[in-house]
This record gives sequence, C-alpha cells and structure tokens, in this order.
Amino acid sequence: MRLFVALRLPDEVRRPLAARAARLASRLPPARWVPAANLHLTLRFLGETDRERAARLGRALAGCCAPRPPLRLRLRDGGCFPPRRPARVAWVGFEPSPALLDLQAAVAAAVEECLELVPEGRPFHPHLTLARPRRPWPRPAVKLWREGLAGPQGPAFVATEVHLMRSRLGPGGARHDPLTVCPLAGAAGDAV
Ligand code: 2AM
Repeated sequence: MRLFVALRLPDEVRRPLAARAARLASRLPPARWVPAANLHLTLRFLGETDRERAARLGRALAGCCAPRPPLRLRLRDGGCFPPRRPARVAWVGFEPSPALLDLQAAVAAAVEECLELVPEGRPFHPHLTLARPRRPWPRPAVKLWREGLAGPQGPAFVATEVHLMRSRLGPGGARHDPLTVCPLAGAAGDAV
C-alpha cells in the first residue's frame, strides 16, 4: 500500500480554495489540479508499506498524536516549488504555527522509528499542493499564482486529527482513503 500521513482540511476551507484555484487555472498554463476532496497537508510520505507494518504504524501514530493538542491553522499565501525556478508544484502555505512544526517532527520521528526509515533530512515546509504543472510554469505564471493567492485564504480552522492515508494511483488521478484516524486529544482538547 502506498501510504502517507496527513492533516485533512474541513470542507469550508477546501471548497472555496479549490474554487479560487479553478478561477486562476483558466489564466495559467496546463496543470494537473488536485480535486477539492484530495486537498491535504502531507506530514510524512511513506511510500509502499505492507499491511503488517501499516497496522503497527497506525498504533504508533495514534500513540504519538493522543497526548498532543488540536491545532489552530490558517492557510496563507500561494507559492511554488522549486523556489526561483520554473514551477513544478503550486501550493498554498500556512500561517506560521510552532505547534504544527512540533507535531510534524513528532509524527516523522514516530513513523521513522516504527518503520526504521531514514529521516528525510530536508526542512518541513507546510503546504497544500493544488496543482502540478504539466510543463514547469515560467516566471509570469508563478507571479500570477503568487499574486492570486496572496494573504490569508479562508477562515482559521482547528485540526483535531491526523490521518494515516492510503493513496491509489489510477488513470483518473489519485484516490485517497484514510486507513487510521488518530485524534489530537491532549490538553483537554484546547487548540494551540
Ligand atoms: P505534496 O504534494 O504535498 O508535496 C500523497 O501522494 C502525498 O504525498 C502528496 O500530496 C505529496 O505531497 C506526497 N508525496 C508523494 N510522493 C512523494 C515523494 N516521493 N516524496 C515525498 N512526498 C511525496
């Protein structure tokens, strides 16, 4: 199974964002657009994992998340990867959240220990991928993207759970299904 760990977003954040991206899409070069239902923040990509290890992973992840508090998050500012080059990925970022960085580090450490994975070694840059250009977008397209998604995007929201997700690649795009839902239940449920 192709697995990753993610935070999913509430409908009231995903839908307006996807609509906004769709309006920009008509003025941008071609890209594969992530359907609203698939929009997520990847905390750690795991790749192919067998069922037995996936079950162990679900338990490790739940144990890591349970003592941690829900997170108050808000999307902000469009950007592209790689920076200052033709764009291969177009995303929207998050308002700075030390608690999100803490959670990602703890999740990555837990899954790496459980699966004996080598740490990724690159800094975590919280982002929501919206589009993967078919050919890298040139500078004017990157500028349009950044300007079109400057500033806060939608309301602040509280993430109350982490998902171990399964991704199935198919001709019509990827299908994402939650395998394990891990509540963030610490500090009496108060968001940080
Ligand atoms: P990203 O698009 O947010 O960067 C599910 O496929 C998610 O896992 C994707 O949204 C992608 O995150 C991430 N992902 C896919 N392949 C990856 C890889 N080889 N390395 C790291 N992350 C990957």
